[in-house]
Amino acid sequence: MRVGIIGGGLMGREAASGFGRWFALQDFPVHAELTAVCDLREDLLEWFAQVPTVQLRTKDHAELLASDQVDVVYVAVPHNLHEKLYCDVLAAGKDLLAEKPFGIDLAAARRIRDAVNASDHFVRCSSEFPFAPGAQRAIDYVQSGALGRVLEIHSGFLHSSDLDTAKPANWKRHSKTCGEIGVMGDLGMHTVHIPFRLGWKPQRVFAQLQKGFAQRPDGQGGTAECDTWDNATLNCDVEIDSQTVPIRLQQKRLAPGQTNSWHFEAIGTEGGVRYNTRDANTIFIYEKEKDGWTRVDLGHAMAFPVITGGIFEAGFPDLNLQMWAAYAAERAGKLATRFGCATPEEAVQSHELWQAALKSHAEKSVVEL
Ligand SMILES: NC(=O)c1ccc[n+]([C@@H]2O[C@H](COP(=O)([O-])OP(=O)(O)OC[C@H]3O[C@@H](n4cnc5c(N)ncnc54)[C@H](O)[C@@H]3O)[C@@H](O)[C@H]2O)c1
Repeated sequence: MRVGIIGGGLMGREAASGFGRWFALQDFPVHAELTAVCDLREDLLEWFAQVPTVQLRTKDHAELLASDQVDVVYVAVPHNLHEKLYCDVLAAGKDLLAEKPFGIDLAAARRIRDAVNASDHFVRCSSEFPFAPGAQRAIDYVQSGALGRVLEIHSGFLHSSDLDTAKPANWKRHSKTCGEIGVMGDLGMHTVHIPFRLGWKPQRVFAQLQKGFAQRPDGQGGTAECDTWDNATLNCDVEIDSQTVPIRLQQKRLAPGQTNSWHFEAIGTEGGVRYNTRDANTIFIYEKEKDGWTRVDLGHAMAFPVITGGIFEAGFPDLNLQMWAAYAAERAGKLATRFGCATPEEAVQSHELWQAALKSHAEKSVVEL
């Protein structure tokens, strides 16, 4: 699997580091390497010069897409560019790992999904937290039926960095480039990937949205206006086994003390499971007979085995490598029963929820999906 990256910023370089240690995957059926990169910034193209497998570095994405050294393209650019670049990738006959939120809004996401369906290319959307050992264990736990009747579900992704008023604004703080959905586009896919995959798709939503600071330094000595939603709490109903169950989805950039905390919790009449990446090595399981939560250490229990010792803890780069392994395995027809990357349809469904949340907040009403 020869990969080209369009957008060599934060996530583009993270992906590059994953391909750089692809050999850590044990007995993996697909070899992957990074062959080409496109970014508008010279300093980033320079950075990629140190990656020995990269044969093409360009500022023109059309040049990357014309390369016969590229099978799969990873596009990690601002949200206003998703639709154009994703559709260009498909038109060039390449497979795609798209970044979330898969288009700047619902209309764009649907057009991308339609372009995917009209092609025969393999397309998935990025979301790596379900590949954490604790998330994998939580999915298995839910699928085993151990919850009994599901009583409530919480899923969230919390950041605190916007509390720093000195932090310069970037494209993620402007609706024009991040999208009117703001933080939901930024963090939301991470909160719905597991619930959606478990079949828990909200039927109605009451959303509470909050803006961040209206002005920030622009990084060049001036001030930038910021207009995106920074915090979003979505209180939803989901039907599970003919019961209406509350599911709360939280996406926040203003969450004191939370650097990059992703959590998933499901509670039922017979059991419960709770995982937060803040305690990366620990999952909590509710045991009814003890009427208490048992702490279980996880170690490096990965869906795709790696050479890393089983007692070591997992971090973000490990989850990202696992997500790419899931992409490569599914593309090669080798995923089997393992958890796969988010699909274009799931990405569109996430946008349906964000659009309903915007309406709910504007009208202060519950919106049906
Ligand atoms: N999956 C995750 O955990 C995760 C985390 C952060 C960001 N993201 C997503 O990744 C995407 C990129 O975010 P980021 O944080 O890496 O942003 P970033 O600003 O760090 O990087 C974006 C890069 O795209 C480049 N770029 C812009 N226009 C381009 C063009 N026409 N051709 C080529 N390159 C171009 C920019 O120069 C920049 O280097 C977004 O969709 C974001 O939501 C995902």
